[in-house]
Amino acid sequence: MERPHGVLLVAFIVASTIIHLVQAEDQEGFISVDCGLPPSEVSPYIEPDTGLWFSSDSDFIQSGKIGKIDASLPKTLKSYVTLRYFPDGIRNCYNLGVKQGTNYLIRVTVLYGNYDRLNIYPKFDLYIGPNFWVKIGEKEEISGQTEEIIYIPRSNYLDLCLVKTGTSTPMISSLELRPLANDVYITESGSLKSLKRYYLSNSETILSYPNDVNDRIWEPKFESEWKQISTSFEANNTNGFLVPQNVLKTAAIPANASAPFNITEDLDFPDDEIYVYLHFSEVQSLQANESREFD
Ligand SMILES: *[C@@H]1O[C@H](CO)[C@@H](O)[C@H](O)[C@H]1NC(C)=O
Ligand SMILES: *[C@@H]1O[C@H](CO)[C@@H](O)[C@H](O)[C@H]1NC(C)=O
Ligand SMILES: *[C@@H]1O[C@H](CO)[C@@H](O)[C@H](O)[C@H]1NC(C)=O
Ligand SMILES: *[C@@H]1O[C@H](CO)[C@@H](O)[C@H](O)[C@H]1NC(C)=O
Repeated sequence: MERPHGVLLVAFIVASTIIHLVQAEDQEGFISVDCGLPPSEVSPYIEPDTGLWFSSDSDFIQSGKIGKIDASLPKTLKSYVTLRYFPDGIRNCYNLGVKQGTNYLIRVTVLYGNYDRLNIYPKFDLYIGPNFWVKIGEKEEISGQTEEIIYIPRSNYLDLCLVKTGTSTPMISSLELRPLANDVYITESGSLKSLKRYYLSNSETILSYPNDVNDRIWEPKFESEWKQISTSFEANNTNGFLVPQNVLKTAAIPANASAPFNITEDLDFPDDEIYVYLHFSEVQSLQANESREFD
């Protein structure tokens, strides 16, 4: 967040896997805020689908009004059902207590869900303190827009601000902060905006907490030119990134052993500096006279 608009760093994160039950880890340092949870509802509560503890946003913001997505929409996470919208003022900010110097994964979800019965997807900007983070509503994602950034606060407070850019009313469904190890995803300058994070698997399961103790979201990715390989043995994930076992236990190789292994990704921001994190874990048992080598 050192730099203004458009030059935030962008990460895309690749790994390889399958579903497997992992015992629930604790949620130490997690901040999980259900924006617009009405005072009549219990807070905190356990999100039934993820086991995450969510709290109402009433301690973190004084402005805005409470809304609820159209009840006829497909079932979604409880934390996305209610929202807070800001008809008044240009800039409305959540003020969160954080630990100075901690490497946080910050995630915001905006699910419009036609809460105002106007059927106009809102467009506005998100800022962290004075620094522009991302535009919301450009792609009008019906099932919700989730944005992530890895950010180290310089004080024990963090302002997450919704800023009006036109006629539409800013709104927010959930706000999540996850502390990460302090030696991972470190960049030369600024914060790291997440672009993609996937694991190479032909399953359709999206992984997050509790499979990932840091609650990163891993989408499956697989191509027809690939072949899946996997193991039932535990992987060594002790290098600080704490990549989930389910991600490391499955991998992809080219179906044609002499063909190149090719991962292609379209980028919206050709001028940005990109960090790519690739995680490798051997899943096949190699003989003493064998090794896996590639360029
Ligand atoms: C796991 O990997 C770390 C380094 O990433 C290494 O120091 C450690 O010895 C490995 N553990 C095992 C059991 O292989
Ligand atoms: C496998 O890949 C090699 C190198 O790209 C290519 O020459 C060969 O025709 C491929 N074989 C098949 C069966 O597709
Ligand atoms: C990589 O794969 C993409 C999509 O499958 C394809 O368009 C592209 O030509 C491939 N590139 C190489 C070098 O094989
Ligand atoms: C490794 O050794 C086994 C027998 O010990 C042999 O069958 C196999 O072909 C060898 N593999 C390679 C890649 O040399």
